[in-house]
Amino acid sequence: MSEVAKIELEGESYELPVITGSENEKAIDISKFRQETGYVTLDSGYKNTGATKSAITFLNGEEGILRYRGYPIEQLAENATFLEVSYLLLYGDLPNKEEYKLFESSINRHTLVHEDMKRFFEAYPSQAHPMGVLSSMICSLSTFYTESLDPYRSSDLKDLTIHRLIAKMPTLAAWAYKNSIRHPFIYPKNEYGYCENFLHMMYAMPTENYKVDPIVSTALNKLLILHADHEQNCSTSTVRIVGSSQANLYATISAGISALWGPLHGGANQAVIEMLQQIHHDGGDVDKWVKKAKDKNDPFRLMGFGHRVYKNFDPRANIIKKSCDDVLNQMGINDPMLDIAKKLEKVALEDEYFKARNLYPNVDFYSGIIYKAIGIPTDMFTVMFAMGRLPGWISQWKEMLENNDPIGRPRQIYTGHKNRDYVNLEDR
Ligand code: CMC
Repeated sequence: MSEVAKIELEGESYELPVITGSENEKAIDISKFRQETGYVTLDSGYKNTGATKSAITFLNGEEGILRYRGYPIEQLAENATFLEVSYLLLYGDLPNKEEYKLFESSINRHTLVHEDMKRFFEAYPSQAHPMGVLSSMICSLSTFYTESLDPYRSSDLKDLTIHRLIAKMPTLAAWAYKNSIRHPFIYPKNEYGYCENFLHMMYAMPTENYKVDPIVSTALNKLLILHADHEQNCSTSTVRIVGSSQANLYATISAGISALWGPLHGGANQAVIEMLQQIHHDGGDVDKWVKKAKDKNDPFRLMGFGHRVYKNFDPRANIIKKSCDDVLNQMGINDPMLDIAKKLEKVALEDEYFKARNLYPNVDFYSGIIYKAIGIPTDMFTVMFAMGRLPGWISQWKEMLENNDPIGRPRQIYTGHKNRDYVNLEDR
């Protein structure tokens, strides 16, 4: 007999089906609960609400496990290319050689953006945050590729839209940076791999050649893979909600980018480096800042610490910490931010406040130090996160369409005024 949950309400007993996932995680299916009982469930911040069934990413926060389509993140980060991982997330399996070649050449074919889009960039002030620029530019792609407006039109067109988006993301991201320093845009070179091409567009100049350093492109490849998907986080849930109204892919991803921007989510990588710099300039007294983070009357939080689902360790943070040491050593960089970060981590991990709340360094704690070492400007850090998360967002959107998920529309508990009559302005 299948498992059920029982609930008693106003003397009546109701049975709710129990759903079991492939890793044996359990859920109580409440989709018909209101229909049967008149009650809704309340869960601010969706702390304990499964919004969908998904076969893309498995995450066990208690044991620090993260797998894409069954493959452990550690193996993918060590051995795969970002495009291989993108293919895996999008299509469910690792590509064979032929599939990989076709996918890579399709991505390479679409790296250029329409020349008219260059004029949009020129209209932004130089101090514009690149996340704002990126989000608008990605949405603007829908105005050039109008066949993308109907996400259900055909699976070939859907693939074309997906490949275009993955291909153009590095170009738009690098151009957002070039525009901020008022340097000429550098066009993509399609003989380069995905990461190399991005670095070329970021750092080459029309006046001099730029040679991509393999240490830098390898580090970038790893970081992008580590960010590629993370099941139903804030930006991915945004993507699913926006996409569920059948908005086009470009508009949907643009919304995801906006959600990622906030400092509690992807914006934390920028906030971490700014925090480390602040601590450094303040004399490097780590204890003082840990105390501030614990003080409930002080709004300061240790950025890059804590996670909604990881309550033991974030496996991505472990990989990045090691990679951070390797990259800095290989490049011969001695960054005082890394020393402060390590001290901060040590003090916090031994502190009762952080222990009791299961607060550990997350993916963003060390990533900014690597980005800084490879020359990425601070306000581009979250753009890098967006580039990495792109295949995950698209895969989740694709899965949602393929599963015919309904439009996302939560309920609420209304706590406002009861019915009252309108009073004319002159009588108020
Ligand atoms: N520094 C100090 N205290 C913290 C921190 C922190 N970074 N994070 C959580 N706490 C405390 C919080 O004050 C609360 O204490 P109490 O129980 O006494 O009220 C307790 O820990 C639980 O925190 P919460 O805010 O209820 O937890 P949450 O699951 O709602 O929030 C979080 C998770 C990631 C938003 C939060 O830990 C945070 O703000 N961290 C700093 C920002 C950050 O690094 N974000 C990046 C997340 S990883 C990248 C990604 O988004 O995928």
